[in-house]
Amino acid sequence: MSQAFKALLVEQPEKKVFTRTIVTRTVADLPEGELLVKVHYSSLNFKDALSAVGNPGVTRNFPHTPGIDAAGEVIECSDDSFSLGDKVIVTSYDLGMETDGGFGQMIRVPSKWALKLPAGLSLQESMMLGTAGLTAAMSVHELVESGVKPADGVILVTGATGGVGSMAVAILTKAGYQVTAATGKLAESDYLKGLGATEVIERSAVTEGAERPMMKPKWAGVVDCVGGDILAAAIKATKPLGSVTCCGLVGSPDLPVNVFPFILRGVRLIGIDSAEYPMAARAKVWQKLATDWKLDNLESMVDEVTLAGIEEKVQGILKGGLKRRALVNLLNS
Ligand SMILES: NC(=O)c1ccc[n+]([C@@H]2O[C@H](COP(=O)([O-])OP(=O)(O)OC[C@H]3O[C@@H](n4cnc5c(N)ncnc54)[C@H](OP(=O)(O)O)[C@@H]3O)[C@@H](O)[C@H]2O)c1
Repeated sequence: MSQAFKALLVEQPEKKVFTRTIVTRTVADLPEGELLVKVHYSSLNFKDALSAVGNPGVTRNFPHTPGIDAAGEVIECSDDSFSLGDKVIVTSYDLGMETDGGFGQMIRVPSKWALKLPAGLSLQESMMLGTAGLTAAMSVHELVESGVKPADGVILVTGATGGVGSMAVAILTKAGYQVTAATGKLAESDYLKGLGATEVIERSAVTEGAERPMMKPKWAGVVDCVGGDILAAAIKATKPLGSVTCCGLVGSPDLPVNVFPFILRGVRLIGIDSAEYPMAARAKVWQKLATDWKLDNLESMVDEVTLAGIEEKVQGILKGGLKRRALVNLLNS
């Protein structure tokens, strides 16, 4: 098939130089896979920005189309897993990393990477959530499964204005938890309160007193998106038997902590890896996002852009300055 479509293409004309242009590609350019999907929406995640600027931790082979998220309709399926016209969500695995991703109007992927859009969510809503929403929901799911209940006290969310952080604030609120949002952008306090945070604190407040081996117990649970000193301090200030989820490293990949919170308070540290989260568990979490945890305020959490608008958002997310998630509309691109 030689069907033409538009895509953002990252090329490497010379060592350490990466260019990003919108080009016309054909379906024949796409990798092998059972499923051909016409992409309606994608979204921008931190990982996409890294791929777009040639970070070898995400993508090593160029030319490449980033986009770890895609939602659209099935155009071809060479096994029995989906019917033509099915609406599907494709996130994680290798999409947008070494496999051409959702910043193109078509993707071809293994059918096992796709999930049928749950009833109650539109394709657009699924990408307003995207990997950030899925990761936030997985973090909340893991806190719930570890036994942290709303009555146990306050949940701290770090990197709160970011994609995962803002979704976590909103989902935790929807699930009945009281949330303290830690941010580097106190000017966004009203936005975070609008999502449900009962308290907004400067990120430096999390690390105050963190030079001590343990801190006064404050948090019943933590959703951390930042890593480094902030995660270490959050662990030291978690209440006995509380849980801390860890998904990100925008602050640092290091974790300068001792064993006391774990062996004297029974604090649990739970790693979140959305890319390899098993499909059955993933479907369960999407189902929650379409029902009990369905967010009424999704539109206020995103800015919609076309392919042409991605560049500005890539620069913003790399500076840690994005206020809203970027929803990418491929239909209007
Ligand atoms: N493990 C997984 O499966 C998974 C899935 C998705 C994302 N992630 C990771 O999770 C992290 C967050 O992703 P995202 O998409 O939410 O990114 P994002 O939209 O860029 O948000 C990150 C937020 O962290 C805060 N921040 C930025 N730089 C910081 C610094 N130097 N120190 C402390 N805080 C800083 C900022 O929020 P404030 O200004 O409000 O503090 C920023 O908005 C990334 O590391 C990403 O790679 C992991």
